[in-house]
Amino acid sequence: MRDLSLRDLEMAGGKFFDDSGREDPRYHLDNGFPSVAVMTLYHLPIVTAVQRLALPQHPRILDLGCGNGALLAHICAARPDCVPCGIEREPERLGYLAALFERHKGEWHVGDMFLSHAPWREQKRYAAALLMVGRLTEARAASVQHLLHRLRGQVDHVIGYAYPDWIARYGGFAELCAAAGLTPIPALGPADFVAPVRL
Ligand SMILES: C[S@@+](CC[C@H](N)C(=O)[O-])C[C@H]1O[C@@H](n2cnc3c(N)ncnc32)[C@H](O)[C@@H]1O
Repeated sequence: MRDLSLRDLEMAGGKFFDDSGREDPRYHLDNGFPSVAVMTLYHLPIVTAVQRLALPQHPRILDLGCGNGALLAHICAARPDCVPCGIEREPERLGYLAALFERHKGEWHVGDMFLSHAPWREQKRYAAALLMVGRLTEARAASVQHLLHRLRGQVDHVIGYAYPDWIARYGGFAELCAAAGLTPIPALGPADFVAPVRL
């Protein structure tokens, strides 16, 4: 599989402009970014990290805190056979999925990633999960253990990432991972804020 370029992602982003040609601000603001360009720049290394994994056909990829699904849309642009799966606690954000994915594509859950059983029912497996590692510092210890138990048992690879606000708070991705109790594998990470992690 070829690497996806920033240009490819910008092209894929073209469909996220509304009929008047103006950008729909929900597309990036829902995910906490000031613009589509900045969001795309931060998503690209996460897309690359997923591409570097040895994935089966039709891999199920779970974004824990998926916002409106834009990160999974970028991953699917690189790897169209992916099954995008997301959990998000703000239900209105999932209302944007229809603009990003074909009807019925993917599996989407409204809920708290630390409390919800929905993504894990019937022992569902995921080829990879995407985790903003700072989330583990926010939750109660028992909730973190619940999520880690699921990740260990039902996910093949966990890609950890963090955006600049979190990196600045902890002084670096490695420091944030340490605070979250995770071990990043930096040699496999395409940027200094993204890497596969050991749990
Ligand atoms: C910064 S956005 C990132 C969206 C997307 N993953 C990305 O990287 O572009 C973080 C999202 O995680 C959601 N979130 C935060 N804590 C959560 C939790 N405990 N359970 C589910 N969603 C959560 C927020 O509502 C927000 O939509």
